[in-house]
Amino acid sequence: WYISIFWIVLGYVLGSIPFGLIIPKIWKNVDPRKWGSGSSGTTNVYRSAGWKCAVCVAFADILKSMVPVLCVLKGLGCVSLAMGVALSGVVGHIWSCFLKFKGGKGVATGAGALFPFIPYWIGISMVLWFVLARYTRYAVLASIIATVTVIVGGSLTRFDALFTLFTMTLGGIIFFAHKKNFVRLTQGKENRIDTKIHEHK
Ligand code: G3P
Repeated sequence: WYISIFWIVLGYVLGSIPFGLIIPKIWKNVDPRKWGSGSSGTTNVYRSAGWKCAVCVAFADILKSMVPVLCVLKGLGCVSLAMGVALSGVVGHIWSCFLKFKGGKGVATGAGALFPFIPYWIGISMVLWFVLARYTRYAVLASIIATVTVIVGGSLTRFDALFTLFTMTLGGIIFFAHKKNFVRLTQGKENRIDTKIHEHK
């Protein structure tokens, strides 16, 4: 139990590290919370600080959840605990203890958390995300379709009730984090992925 609680808390604290604020602040002296959607996730870092910052944030946000999940999965060999650590990492990213329980939307961190379980589906969904974001210009659409693809594809591949429940819970959390995006979409007010990016060239 102590070991489980240690890893869950570590997963949450690592997930809470706000790379989406740290990297743009150090590199460009930009606070993404003052731009676009106000989120500190990769998409809004792209809007506010450009693609190089966004790529670094994406990698950092992926790694901060992937590393602890990999340690538990490969090091301890405990699948159910690895699922718990994956969930706590995504929860930490969205409701960060360092940001008064605010944060990003959990897409990059969720991809990192799921990568050790279903790497192929994460690879496919990342490609899908880029194609959809490129052509629709709405990151939220790309994120939601990629998330559904991972849940359906991953569940069918593993065919395991616990894993399906796990991916659906993770997906549900990511959907919930996008609730303001859905409202803006229905009102026709959703930010395009490149809103205001021109001001930072
Ligand atoms: O991956 C995040 C994306 O789905 C939405 O980002 O900044 O437009 O709320 P944002």
